Amino acid sequence: MKIQVITLFPEMFEGVLGNSMLWKAADRGIAEYSFINLREFGLGPRQQVDDTPYGGGDGMLLKPEPVVAAIELAKSRSPDAQVILPTPRGKTYVQSDAKELAATNGDLIIVCPRYEGYDERITAWVDRQYSIGNYVLTGGELPAMIVIDSVVRLLPGVLGGENSAEIESFQQDDQNIEFPQYTRPEDFRDMKVPEVLLTGHHAEIEKWRTSHSHKAQA
Ligand code: 6GU
Repeated sequence: MKIQVITLFPEMFEGVLGNSMLWKAADRGIAEYSFINLREFGLGPRQQVDDTPYGGGDGMLLKPEPVVAAIELAKSRSPDAQVILPTPRGKTYVQSDAKELAATNGDLIIVCPRYEGYDERITAWVDRQYSIGNYVLTGGELPAMIVIDSVVRLLPGVLGGENSAEIESFQQDDQNIEFPQYTRPEDFRDMKVPEVLLTGHHAEIEKWRTSHSHKAQA
């Protein structure tokens, strides 16, 4: 899966994509990450990418010309890629969206907005708009990383224990069904591992896990 990211801040991605499973996925040739710096498509000698909103208001918006030129370059490299726009105006991104993108296994182009937003006309070049929750972020880079992480980990060959991605949280109806887990030591500062988990009685362990599969308290 080729994943192209259009951003003014490609260096933000280094730590996230350069480590652990996302790095391994690239090392194994399962995912390939590349970046298009939106600044290179800026207009005029100052390579301007933003401008004031028509109708007034605070802040600056991404201009459409640089964004669409960058998308067109990305499309020339991946003609069938889906174009994703992280935006608070989008549908809330959930596990079934990640599964769909992973199952499709098609290339992705992710456009990261900055400033107070973007000219709405760019959405004519976008296939999917996602928000990652009800709070406000400074740009689309963190949401882009979240989409990449959640999709790439589902690609065949990325996770070691092949079904740990299968059984864990959110797989059913985007609801958290993960149960609490424990490892050694059996007694940590007087806190004991639940007895049933030490018995090797698989049916009882399943029952315990099912009855404890709910969200932790805030
Ligand atoms: Cl996708 N972008 C920004 N800027 N803020 C957000 C978001 C996206 N999702 C939740 N908050």
